[in-house]
Amino acid sequence: MLPELDLIPAPAHAECRAGAPGYVALDERTTLDAGPGTHGTARWLRAVLGAATGLPLADGTGPGAIRLRISPDVAREHGPEGYRLSTDGSVADAAVAIEGGGPAGVFWAAQTLRQLLGPEAHRRARVAPAGHDWDLPLLTLADGPRFPWRGLMLDVARHFMPKDDVLRQLDLMAAHKLNVLHLHLTDDQGWRIEIRRHPRLTEVGSWRARSKWGHRASPLWNETPHGGFYTQDDIREIVAYAADRHISVVPEIDVPGHSQAAIAAYPELGNTDVIDTTTLSVWDTWGVSPNVLAPTDNVLRFYEGVFEEVLELFPAEVSPFVHIGGDECPKDQWKASATARARIEELGVGDEDGLQSWFVRHFDRWLAARGRRLIGWDEILEGGLADGAAVSSWRGYAGGITAAEAGHDVVMCPEQQVYLDHRQAPGEDEPMPIGYVRTLADVYRFEPVPPGLAPEAAAHILGTQANVWTEVMENRARVDYQTHPRLAAFAEVAWSRLPAPEARDLAGFERRMSTHYRRLDALGVDYRPPAGPHPWQRRPGVLGRPLDGAPPNV
Ligand code: ACM
Repeated sequence: MLPELDLIPAPAHAECRAGAPGYVALDERTTLDAGPGTHGTARWLRAVLGAATGLPLADGTGPGAIRLRISPDVAREHGPEGYRLSTDGSVADAAVAIEGGGPAGVFWAAQTLRQLLGPEAHRRARVAPAGHDWDLPLLTLADGPRFPWRGLMLDVARHFMPKDDVLRQLDLMAAHKLNVLHLHLTDDQGWRIEIRRHPRLTEVGSWRARSKWGHRASPLWNETPHGGFYTQDDIREIVAYAADRHISVVPEIDVPGHSQAAIAAYPELGNTDVIDTTTLSVWDTWGVSPNVLAPTDNVLRFYEGVFEEVLELFPAEVSPFVHIGGDECPKDQWKASATARARIEELGVGDEDGLQSWFVRHFDRWLAARGRRLIGWDEILEGGLADGAAVSSWRGYAGGITAAEAGHDVVMCPEQQVYLDHRQAPGEDEPMPIGYVRTLADVYRFEPVPPGLAPEAAAHILGTQANVWTEVMENRARVDYQTHPRLAAFAEVAWSRLPAPEARDLAGFERRMSTHYRRLDALGVDYRPPAGPHPWQRRPGVLGRPLDGAPPNV
């Protein structure tokens, strides 16, 4: 039986040899012939495909080989992440000939190869009987991504995601050809990264005594203490594991709002002339905390220390970008603070909004002086930005349009379309349903580049990102449920050159999804089944926010 050609994301070009019902089989004699720059992918193929198929995939050349090469021609035509994959002998005398525009292109081709081998190739050990042939259809594919930034944001602050689960997410991202993991590491409800010079950030800030169970209006509490953090070696491991999969990790340290966990650890970071910050603990409910950082030199120096360690853990070759949050900073405490008022006077920034912009600009310059680029949520635009800064456009397209037109790079992640915490169907059965109803089909129809954007501005759209906020996702299974299968639709939007939303072949995508669900089964993903949640995926009696169209933050 030939495996179906149900690739997700869809490749740019696929040609099956005319009239040829033939196939090529991978078997015990299949070897790996890895040219310069392709050894990382060879290692991945041997480890992952080798485990799933039980094939040794020893080193060796010849007509039975999987041949991996870097090709300047492919780079020119399809970019460094593009590839050509051929099983019909048209590129080279090999069972499978892969040519990547660069090492990443070779790796994405290996992901395609795994999909071509069938769902069983996505398991961690063999289920096929010994002697099973792994058949591939005779074809040539030429492919490359639409966008260089195909991101997933994981909020590991609201609910901690243990390191092993992050590594698994990286594998799932790789399977969907996504290449940027944005880690939301700090928030009111938790601080998740070890900072050596400020140990209380994790000693105190990484756990809370209890958690709101459901939307913040829910009367229920989960009384189990919640916490966890990544040691610096955990972070190094995550970054290296990602790099092996051609994924960059962008760290986010959120300032000056969403900082209550840090203030609970170091009360002097807060507005001490307004409230007694020594009484604060890590926040146990959801929303936007009024407890924000004080606009003082001490706070700047403290966070420079944090960022110095962050820059070391997330080197520039992995990602030049460092995310500083910058969203949702309530100004009430600054309005009530004599210190903040004096600062506004001294800096001549006019008001509290000017103060926020001063705060962001400080880190914009600080990062630029260290060869790095600041990225922040679209609120950071409000005070004007330095040249290299980029914007995550979350409150719709508007921030992204303004930024792109002003010459800033943009990652489009509008809450109306790609916030995967939002429910994926109407009705009572969705677990803790919040936000808009955004179905698989809705995500498939998402267009990252706003219509009418001039070409020079559109060139600033680096790509797009799906955001997974975890207030109502208490564990990995809940994250899986909210993220999949919609991540498959998102991946195709980010990778493939789809036509305008109304012209997209939704039926064709859904047909291919029937195979993709079997891949997700093999990968062990707790996705939302098309017919609705399994009983154990429901959360009966836990309040969500049943108003469609309401603002997003739980
Ligand atoms: C956000 O959703 N506050 C970026």
